[in-house]
Amino acid sequence: MDEKKLIEAALEARTHAYTPYSHFQVGAALMTKSGNIYQGCNIENAAYSPTVCAERSAFFKAVYEGERGFAAIAIAGSPEGECNAYAPPCGVCRQVMMEFCDPKEFRIFLVKSSEEYQEFSLEALLPMGFGPVNLDRQEKPE
Ligand code: THU
Repeated sequence: MDEKKLIEAALEARTHAYTPYSHFQVGAALMTKSGNIYQGCNIENAAYSPTVCAERSAFFKAVYEGERGFAAIAIAGSPEGECNAYAPPCGVCRQVMMEFCDPKEFRIFLVKSSEEYQEFSLEALLPMGFGPVNLDRQEKPE
């Protein structure tokens, strides 16, 4: 996987953020198993609750285009200006990842710059997550 390319795409996506209220800018770049990249940014709203996170805007673009298999997401978020902190994905975005991604395989990169980033699995960030398999399974979850 070309993780540097994905990280650069998240930093670039952050420049698209619409954040007149929080001034907290987030960019995300989602890579499919076939290597396609979909970018997203947070888009805020005067009524606040309609705000969408960068991660979900990337997922929804990709799913709309017919993508269903994902390998990794890079997330770059910090107060406006230089990206100078790590922004972990919110719980709602982790749950959206759980819908489409294998928690053991899916990689999440938290990005400060193209040189500084951390990698996690979805399973590490959402232990014992509820996903589509739970609707089929008869036995208790492990
Ligand atoms: N935000 C994201 O885009 N992704 C997250 O996972 C956490 C929060 C956005 C939402 C809002 O526009 C701003 O960051 C402050 O919460």
